[in-house]
Amino acid sequence: MSTPCRILILGAGSAIAQGYARARAVRGASFVLVGLNATRLAAIADDLRACGAQGTEVVTADLADLAGIETRAAELRASFGEPDEVLIAYGELGDQVESERDLDAARRAIDVNFTSVALWVLALLKNRPPQVPLAIAAIGSVAGDRGRASNFVYGSAKGGLDRFLEGLAQKHAGTPVHVLTVKPGFVDSPMTDGLAKGPLFASPETVGAAIARAVEKRRRVVYVPWFWWGIMTIIRHLPWVVFRRLRI
Ligand SMILES: NC(=O)c1ccc[n+]([C@@H]2O[C@H](COP(=O)([O-])OP(=O)(O)OC[C@H]3O[C@@H](n4cnc5c(N)ncnc54)[C@H](OP(=O)(O)O)[C@@H]3O)[C@@H](O)[C@H]2O)c1
Repeated sequence: MSTPCRILILGAGSAIAQGYARARAVRGASFVLVGLNATRLAAIADDLRACGAQGTEVVTADLADLAGIETRAAELRASFGEPDEVLIAYGELGDQVESERDLDAARRAIDVNFTSVALWVLALLKNRPPQVPLAIAAIGSVAGDRGRASNFVYGSAKGGLDRFLEGLAQKHAGTPVHVLTVKPGFVDSPMTDGLAKGPLFASPETVGAAIARAVEKRRRVVYVPWFWWGIMTIIRHLPWVVFRRLRI
């Protein structure tokens, strides 16, 4: 695939999204960067232009504002044209203990990581001519592959996103609309600031570059780094009598 001209990034402040955008910028793409923090987005836009981006536009928005998604998506499409590629990168790890105690926190984790992402995808595809190519890449997580005691609210939101994207990909199989689900393992980004880092952690640049390659190769699902495919295959297939005893 040739490098797409117009890339829309939802959650452009994400460290992983920045790694991806740099890999695309060196090939002359242009960007619409959407996120919460205008100052950070402006700095990212400067960086991307220095890397070779043809153009950058910055839009601030709370992407998890469910009521505003359809209007926002229509405004973005009208203002900047139809994107060739969309990366949905925003997300929140949330706090499992707090989510079990405070249902507003649980709802927020589900809305940010699943509901809003699904609605954004539907809004971006609504009334889009089916023959116009589009690559949609959304960042899920290995946490969505099996429900675990330590993070099943976040994990189930990512798992729901996985099913949503799978169905969407099947709907568009054989058409110019391509859907990629990205499943990172541990990434050394601001999201994991509070966690002790170990050898399984990858850099956001590595993960971002892997996403760019996976989009180009029209992959359906990509685990990044690749070894998480093996780890999660084992975890998914552990019998319940074993799994229920694990503290993971
Ligand atoms: N880091 C990991 O270990 C890991 C592992 C698996 C999957 N992932 C997924 O990878 C994606 C990117 O995360 P990351 O590692 O790059 O972490 P990150 O740098 O913390 O990026 C997360 C981004 O999401 C943005 N965001 C959160 N809620 C938003 C909202 N309502 N509207 C707009 N933007 C919002 C944050 O903006 P602010 O910073 O301005 O709040 C931040 O820029 C996420 O979907 C995450 O779930 C991460």
